[in-house]
Amino acid sequence: MSWCPAGGLSQIPARGARVLKTGNGNVAVFRTFDDKLFALADRCPHRQGPLSQGIVHGTKVTCPLHDWVIDLSTGSAVAPDSGCTSTYPVKVEDGLVYVDLPNG
Ligand code: FES
Repeated sequence: MSWCPAGGLSQIPARGARVLKTGNGNVAVFRTFDDKLFALADRCPHRQGPLSQGIVHGTKVTCPLHDWVIDLSTGSAVAPDSGCTSTYPVKVEDGLVYVDLPNG
């Protein structure tokens, strides 16, 4: 694991996401309305929909394809749906966002 730069905090819209391209696929960095950050694989556990294109509400995102709701803190689908996508640690230093990714 290593901390990879993900741009400035101001580049991530509130209740939106920014996408990082990595060797293991895209990672979406979400920002909630109250400035919490979460990084998840940009693949819905249902059929790999782009979660980064979804609507953030509270600490959850609704997938744009079939409306599954994913908990940003765990990557898990909210019942009655089930499944999980990978999550990654995020930190902010001096206004810059970093995500801890498996292969840098
Ligand atoms: S791909 Fe996300 S709900 Fe179907």
